[in-house]
Parts: sequence; structure tokens; C-alpha cells
Amino acid sequence: MKIAQINKWHKSLNKDCYRNDIIIPFLLQYIHSQKKYITILDIGSGSGYIHQHVLPKSKSKIIRYYALDKDINMINFSKKNNIINHSAKISFLHANILDVNFFKKVDLIILSFSLLEFKPNQKFCKKLSKYLKKNASILIFIPDILQDILEKHEFSSLKKYIDNKLFFKKRNKFTKVVFPFVVNRTEKLLECFTANNLQIKSIVEKECLNKKSYIIEVVNG
Ligand SMILES: C[S@@+](CC[C@H](N)C(=O)[O-])C[C@H]1O[C@@H](n2cnc3c(N)ncnc32)[C@H](O)[C@@H]1O
Repeated sequence: MKIAQINKWHKSLNKDCYRNDIIIPFLLQYIHSQKKYITILDIGSGSGYIHQHVLPKSKSKIIRYYALDKDINMINFSKKNNIINHSAKISFLHANILDVNFFKKVDLIILSFSLLEFKPNQKFCKKLSKYLKKNASILIFIPDILQDILEKHEFSSLKKYIDNKLFFKKRNKFTKVVFPFVVNRTEKLLECFTANNLQIKSIVEKECLNKKSYIIEVVNG
């Protein structure tokens, strides 16, 4: 994404109920409930809105936060904009998660809306399981795209959705850029993880502005 668009997007996230009312409070509660200090890998960390809001309130429970994104402009923006003045340490990684190997094991992997941009395959799910310590979790935040398809009466899309093949062209409400979202059917995602020795711990449905989304916790246990 171009820097000007990232800027616009980042600013508009202040009004985004998904991140402000669901994702950030959920993450903070999760982090505070941990009995130990944790390391986090945020895949598709974008402009850094999540860690910018989570790190200062994490009461130093995060010892290392890896913010990974394949878009160099996102990484540069995130580096410049996030003045971290607390004890947690952040590392910025410019990489495509589908191509790289990450050589650390972490306590928590965050996938916040990044699964709107790529489809995880078996290789990816297997890799993720290797990046997790024992009993560590992946938290997936993902909107319910089926709701969009049904609401828009896009019944031609429904067949593609059923076949797990849909790219949903959607105007980003913040930047107005039209871009193809990848539709990841929730149960297909779950299949990918469970086939690679990961277990589904919980699926929570949330709603903001009449739109449904899911928080899925997957555990390596
Ligand atoms: C919708 S944004 C979400 C940003 C952030 N997680 C948030 O919730 O604010 C998705 C991000 O995932 C990144 N991304 C998409 N595919 C990726 C991949 N294969 N590897 C790493 N990052 C990826 C994009 O560059 C983009 O910054």
C-alpha cells in the first residue's frame, strides 16, 4: 500500500469498532491472564495499530513482540509511528509469511484480519505449529464474509464460497481502495490447523455495527 493510503487507513482505525472494542480489549485480557511473560508473533501486523495500543497497556508482560508484514511501506510506517516507551521490546520483520522460516518459538501468534489477504495452505499451518511453544496459542480475528455475500445477494459468489475459491472485491471503507479480499471459510481454516496437530480451543462470535466476526483460539497442546 502507498504511504499516503497507509496514513489515512491508520488514522481511520481510531473509529474502527473491530479493533477498538473487540480485538484490543480481547488481547489485553488474554495477555493479563497469562501467568508468565510472553513473546508474540503478529503476522500481517500492518500499520501497527494493534501493537501501538496493546504494548503500552501490557504491564510489561510482553517480553518480545515480533511485528511481521510483507509490505515494506507498512513496516516502515509502523516503525516510524510507534514510539515505544515501555519495557517490551519490538522487532520489525519484513517478510512474506508464506515464504520465510521464522526461527523462534513464541507463546502467542496473532492473525488480526491478515487472513483476509492470503489463504493458508497445509504447509503454512504446519509451519505455524512449529513456531509455537507447547501449549501456546494462535488468536485469529476474522470477519464473517458469508454474511457480506448473503447481504449483498451475491448468490453467484455463493458457489465460489462453497468451493472455497472466492476472492471478494470490496472497497475498503477507510481508504476507498477496491481490493480483492480472500475468503477463508472458517471451517476450512479449522481443518487446516487440526490437520497439523493444533487444537481448536474456542470460537467466539462478536458483533460490531451489525457485522459478525470471529475470534478463534487454536492451541498447540
Ligand atoms: C488487513 S491488514 C491487517 C493489519 C493489522 N493486522 C490490523 O489488524 O490492523 C493485513 C496485513 O497483512 C499483510 N499481509 C498479507 N499477506 C501477507 C503475507 N503473506 N505475509 C505477511 N504479511 C501479509 C498485509 O501487507 C497487510 O498489512
